[in-house]
Amino acid sequence: MGLLDGRVALVTGGESGIGAATARALAAEGAAVALTFYADAVAAGAVRDAIIDKGGRAMVVHADVGDEALVEQAFATVTAELGLPDILINSAGLNMSGVTVADTELAQWERLIRTDLTGAFLTSRAFVRGLRDTRKPGRIVNISSIHSVAVRYGGADYCAAKAGLDSLTRTMAVECGPMKIGVNAIAPGMILTPMNREAVADPQILAAAREHIPWGRAGRAEEVASLAVFLCSGKADYMTGAVLTIDGGLTLEQALGA
Ligand SMILES: NC(=O)c1ccc[n+]([C@@H]2O[C@H](COP(=O)([O-])OP(=O)(O)OC[C@H]3O[C@@H](n4cnc5c(N)ncnc54)[C@H](O)[C@@H]3O)[C@@H](O)[C@H]2O)c1
Repeated sequence: MGLLDGRVALVTGGESGIGAATARALAAEGAAVALTFYADAVAAGAVRDAIIDKGGRAMVVHADVGDEALVEQAFATVTAELGLPDILINSAGLNMSGVTVADTELAQWERLIRTDLTGAFLTSRAFVRGLRDTRKPGRIVNISSIHSVAVRYGGADYCAAKAGLDSLTRTMAVECGPMKIGVNAIAPGMILTPMNREAVADPQILAAAREHIPWGRAGRAEEVASLAVFLCSGKADYMTGAVLTIDGGLTLEQALGA
């Protein structure tokens, strides 16, 4: 018996990093999993095949989460193949540009907001519309970031998108409570995924980053995935509107040098 037997999950950004780990973890608890991919069909197929090899149900579907028509199409395809999703994990995202506001082009700003914020709006809307019609309960988990609060120089696009995602989480929790759709967010610190490819590839960069993490190491995608599984399970039934930090204590010392 798994914690998520009989459930159907749609995971955006499921071909990589936290999305891939969460897809695997949800499937290990019995959920049928659809993972959307954007750039890498081969990587998405490998995640799907690994789930199926372990006896689970999984499929892949292409979607740019910032494209309204593609998101609608992805939900229709998944519903036809696996059933109506009652778990949504919004993990698709782009990292910060590293460019100051003064030097940011509008196109860059719009691209990031469309992916990291509008994407979650579009998928969440499709998800809730499906469940609303059937009156089934559900769970949404948005993968936010500690940078929704702890801003970074050159990170205005990303920080604004993630702050917006936290706000979307809380607003939707209020709107979806009566439907018994729980909406929560996870705010990871430094997790070793392709998004942090410099730290993954360079031990010196990783060691320097580690010095600021009280727990003494960066996090793993599987650790974020475990929290997502908990939030989707009956064990977290009464939780909604929360933004849960998982960062090894990284954000606790914000007034260094004071
Ligand atoms: N890695 C970290 O340290 C960290 C920390 C905090 C938050 N996060 C968040 O976690 C989420 C997952 O990131 P990750 O670390 O696994 O990085 P990742 O780069 O491994 O994964 C990001 C995924 O998003 C997908 N994607 C990008 N643009 C897309 C689009 N337009 N449509 C659909 N999919 C798109 C990519 O193809 C990829 O699968 C992101 O939202 C990120 O902001 C990561």
